[in-house]
Amino acid sequence: MIPLRKILMILKSIDTMIALKQIFKPGRIITALMFTFLSLPAWAQSNGAAVMSEEVVFYTMVGVVFAVAILVLLVAIYVLQLLKVFVAKDATEEELANHLPPWWKGIFYLTIVYGIIYILIFHVFKTAPLQEEKYEIAMVEAEEDAIARQSTQTDTFDETTVTFTDAPSDLGAGKKIFEMQCAPCHKADGGGSVGPNLTDDYWIHGGSMKDIYYIIKVGVPSKGMIAWEQLLSPERMRNVSSYIMTLVGTNPPGAKAAQGDLYEPEGAGQ
Ligand code: HEC
Repeated sequence: MIPLRKILMILKSIDTMIALKQIFKPGRIITALMFTFLSLPAWAQSNGAAVMSEEVVFYTMVGVVFAVAILVLLVAIYVLQLLKVFVAKDATEEELANHLPPWWKGIFYLTIVYGIIYILIFHVFKTAPLQEEKYEIAMVEAEEDAIARQSTQTDTFDETTVTFTDAPSDLGAGKKIFEMQCAPCHKADGGGSVGPNLTDDYWIHGGSMKDIYYIIKVGVPSKGMIAWEQLLSPERMRNVSSYIMTLVGTNPPGAKAAQGDLYEPEGAGQ
């Protein structure tokens, strides 16, 4: 004899199936919606819009994720119902009504709160820049920095405003340039060979920082000293000029005889 309970169970399962069919009607609508969302990009492109606006992409993605989430939920409900009906036929209601652990639920609700806050901050109120915007901001800042650096390097001095630099890094750079470019004619120690001695107090073109800078810049082409302006930046010419200033008075052995006039620095003898 079939127990009444079993019959009731079967009846109930039929009921569930009908109920599920009802549920899956909206499911079909959602599927249709999903396909519409998915075909949106293709549609936008065929319409001649070369680049889809970021907003459209974003809301399409949200829509798709939402639809998928609902589908997953429906499948989960369906599976749960099946489990309830077919696998755990004899189980009591109480046994299946296990509650999720509170810590799990806590985390779940936290993710929802986090998601809402995230969307509000980054997409609705736009209070914080997205990754791409951050990158663009950084690029603009770097460009401004580069322009600022260039202007201090090239535009802020010429022979009328150049000043001696005693920064070790500048003098070191000047020494390197001198040894590579100038030593063939002025000797590495500045004592002079083809070019004049740069270590004494006698100068053909003047011995001030500005004089030295200027003669390096424009050169003396008729005597074989080229205009270094074409090869060296103002900063480099300043560094090498400063380095030459430090050579004055070093009296290297075998230095060339003095040429030009005795140069007396302004303010000397005071
Ligand atoms: C091809 C050889 C040559 C090279 C390389 C050369 N010079 Fe000269 N330089 C000369 C000659 C020659 C003179 C003298 C010009 C004159 O008689 O008016 C001179 C003059 C100078 C003077 C002026 C000296 C004075 O008594 O007024 C300075 C400063 C100077 N050179 C610096 C440099 C620096 C710095 C470099 C490297 C960046 C350099 N020179 C590279 C040949 C050279």
